Amino acid sequence: MTGADRGLFAPVHDEITAFDLPVTGRLPESLRGRYLRNGPNPLTGDEPAARHWSGGEGMIHGVRLRNGRAEWYRNRWIRSDDVAGRLGEKLLHGPRHLGTDCAPNSHVQFFAGHCLALVEGGALPYEIDSELFTIGPFDFHGTLPGGFAAHSVVDPRTGELHAVAYCWAWPYVQHLVVGTDGCVRRRVDVPVAGRPMMHDFSLTEHHVLLYDLPVVLAPERGRTGFPYTWEPGRPARLGVLPREGRAADVRWLEVEPCCVLHPVNAYEHDGGRCVTIHLVRHERLFDGSRTAPDGHRGRLESWTADLVTGTVRRQQLDDRAVEFPRADPRRLTGPYRYAYAVHEREGGRGGLGAGLVKFDVLRGTSEEFRVPPGGDIGEGVFVPAAADAAEDDGWVLAFTYEPARAATDLVVLAAQDVAAGPVARVHLPVRVPPGFHGNWVPDDV
Ligand SMILES: [Fe+2]
Repeated sequence: MTGADRGLFAPVHDEITAFDLPVTGRLPESLRGRYLRNGPNPLTGDEPAARHWSGGEGMIHGVRLRNGRAEWYRNRWIRSDDVAGRLGEKLLHGPRHLGTDCAPNSHVQFFAGHCLALVEGGALPYEIDSELFTIGPFDFHGTLPGGFAAHSVVDPRTGELHAVAYCWAWPYVQHLVVGTDGCVRRRVDVPVAGRPMMHDFSLTEHHVLLYDLPVVLAPERGRTGFPYTWEPGRPARLGVLPREGRAADVRWLEVEPCCVLHPVNAYEHDGGRCVTIHLVRHERLFDGSRTAPDGHRGRLESWTADLVTGTVRRQQLDDRAVEFPRADPRRLTGPYRYAYAVHEREGGRGGLGAGLVKFDVLRGTSEEFRVPPGGDIGEGVFVPAAADAAEDDGWVLAFTYEPARAATDLVVLAAQDVAAGPVARVHLPVRVPPGFHGNWVPDDV
């Protein structure tokens, strides 16, 4: 199978810088900043059949918007030592954790003046500059005790950054809190059996929620380089760690075996007795082929944990197969109303989006923007129209693959009318392969 045969999943080979991009529609003046998205983009043509589609060196794609214009598009690989060496560039050097060095391909997060490419499993983040050039590995000014995580949450109450890290070499998972000065101020090692994949976690006003589920990190079992596997019989549990608690304070609540890659949001209610979590639940995952997703598509669910009785009640909220859920970052850790998720195309290869759904989790309604046959849409990132704007007063940004152009658009949807379709499309000169997560970095941070 050649790169061309892989269709829109094929990696791109060139780093592009394009200015003054054509726009259809009208870009909101309030969008002043950069939309950044990370994803795997294998640097060399390894045999694709031997590589899980989610593997490969991280490449950041970015679009800068200002004054109603799309000023530029750039895409850059993260310069890990391996990438820099293969591109014939000088190595950047810097700190390492357990000698692990990779080009993070999972997420991008801006915090305390640093723009970070993120990955889980034991490696450090890499810092990039405002034009996506790699600065080097980042260990939070020498305060990060190990590796970091793909997912992190900026607490809108405190401005601090929370993450849960795990590592192939650790018998625990680690809750980390980074202060607004960019230094780690708290770490708690929570012992766990085996090496559960904790891709993400949830944060409420008083608790950190840990997903100790049957997907484990088992690189020694992977035949094709994909390091995760479903471990039959492994207990499934939800850990409730008080934000400033110790490992011994974690309460483990039994749940049905499943895989949760991405919670949306979680919040406390009933005087703190209960926690409601909205998340995408997969019945099983990574239990079959190691080179393709396994057919167990995720569904949006609501879990209510009763912290007095220690029980967790599940409710499926929608029939559609969805993933990559996001919410207004200002509402994380508290009550909220709207979630945005990719409606995955049934039957086809995983990772292809048929549409973007806006869920009203309060009323139980939804609306959807659909892309044309042969198209694709990735994760939607909500950007408020102003700092004090209402929860859905703003824009949802996402990359869409446009088959008619064989290239990618950055679409801007009005969050209050997602089904109406984009208010603006920025036409990129190239295709952006499907990837993982992104964020909006406004100019005024
Ligand atoms: Fe993720």
